[in-house]
Amino acid sequence: MQGPALREFYDREYHFGEDVDRPNPERLWRAVRELEPLDGATLLDLGCGVGWATRIAASRGHVRDAVGLDFSRTALEHAAANTTDGSPARIVWVCGDGTMLPFADGAFDRAFSFGSMEHFPDVAAGFRELARVLRSGAVAVTVVPNFYVRTAQPVEHRDTEAGWRRLIVAAGLDVLRVRADPGPAIFKNSRPARIVLRLGLRLLGCIPAFRYQFIFVMRKP
Ligand SMILES: C[S@@+](CC[C@H](N)C(=O)[O-])C[C@H]1O[C@@H](n2cnc3c(N)ncnc32)[C@H](O)[C@@H]1O
Repeated sequence: MQGPALREFYDREYHFGEDVDRPNPERLWRAVRELEPLDGATLLDLGCGVGWATRIAASRGHVRDAVGLDFSRTALEHAAANTTDGSPARIVWVCGDGTMLPFADGAFDRAFSFGSMEHFPDVAAGFRELARVLRSGAVAVTVVPNFYVRTAQPVEHRDTEAGWRRLIVAAGLDVLRVRADPGPAIFKNSRPARIVLRLGLRLLGCIPAFRYQFIFVMRKP
């Protein structure tokens, strides 16, 4: 699936309403905090969805300007409607394609992307664009899944830690460290089969090669 059909899927079928109602701030902060210090930074949240991570970074990290970019208008409508936390940072919501970012070279000091880049139709182009919009010395975090993780989204790049690392390095970014994201909360919703599945995945993720998702911390040289 490509372009308009893909956007249509996110606009009409994706569960953004559930994402608004069931945030997981602790899980997001575990990844966002890898960007610290954030004070005074210009920050991009790439594939921001309903914008929880953008808001967490803006409110806890004292960023100067934050941009949440997504190509789904539905996601951004939710994001704009829920920007009510009185964060001191200015948050701008931008509708755009992560593989063709509408920003100048070196525009950002920090970038974040949670569970989004693996859904870009051209993942390598997404990383090249990420590298392009970071200034030299800027730090970025992307959270991407291990090869066995499946979702109901139409485009899904699956890779091992080594495979993701190759994509990042090929885009011209250095990998500073890799941390583990343990996956969704076990009681995210109350369907018993889902709870059992999430418990099983949590146990599997204790084996290093089977971490659920990777938190890649990168720097633009
Ligand atoms: C699984 S959701 C994650 C959203 C958010 N980061 C979060 O943690 O809840 C994937 C997001 O990627 C966005 N997305 C997919 N392909 C994209 C592209 N080419 N450019 C920009 N956003 C894209 C979707 O619209 C969706 O909001």
